Amino acid sequence: MDIKYLIRPTELAKYFLKDVLKEGDVVVDATMGNGNDTLFLANIVGEKGKVISFDVQDLAIANTKKLLENNHINNVDLIQDGHENMDKYICDEISGGMFNLGYLPKGDHHIVTKGETTVVAIEKCLKFLKRNGMITMIIYHGHSEGKIEKEQVINYIENLDQSKFHVMKVDYINQTKESPILITIIKK
Ligand SMILES: C[S@@+](CC[C@H](N)C(=O)[O-])C[C@H]1O[C@@H](n2cnc3c(N)ncnc32)[C@H](O)[C@@H]1O
Repeated sequence: MDIKYLIRPTELAKYFLKDVLKEGDVVVDATMGNGNDTLFLANIVGEKGKVISFDVQDLAIANTKKLLENNHINNVDLIQDGHENMDKYICDEISGGMFNLGYLPKGDHHIVTKGETTVVAIEKCLKFLKRNGMITMIIYHGHSEGKIEKEQVINYIENLDQSKFHVMKVDYINQTKESPILITIIKK
């Protein structure tokens, strides 16, 4: 295993998803941002599959659209709405989903995911998730909104029924700065 997967939670999330997802799957990118995760998912599920990607801000839609065009990708629905409304746009079972919480790195730091709506989105995503499907989530808790979000999200997921879900948390525990936390949820 390449060391990058063990030292970066974002890479570890992709490593797991690569193993779980396959061509033809329908998947969700709950936080589109600059489109990197959307592109990653689109390449896995291929033209027979579909990625449904959400973000609230114009810049995310514009950046992702450009990235997908440059890579000749056309199996993505770009939706400018909050992930907490994902049930308005999804009608199929999904095989997986990615949440990369927080704010757009080079964008407006005031536009940030919030615990309350993130929990609603996770709940909805889990309803659409098929058996043995996987959701990954990166929680950035170094900023003030992120600290509140972490508490709310962890409180919700650690109480998920163990007869229905496997929930795992990967935390780098010797860092002086709050390093991002990876969560994986698998539906039994
Ligand atoms: C860390 S960035 C995502 C990075 C992205 N996955 C990528 O590959 O570039 C978090 C994104 O969540 C978006 N966001 C904030 N609130 C949201 C909401 N309620 N629903 C969907 N996206 C939201 C922000 O606009 C921001 O673009």
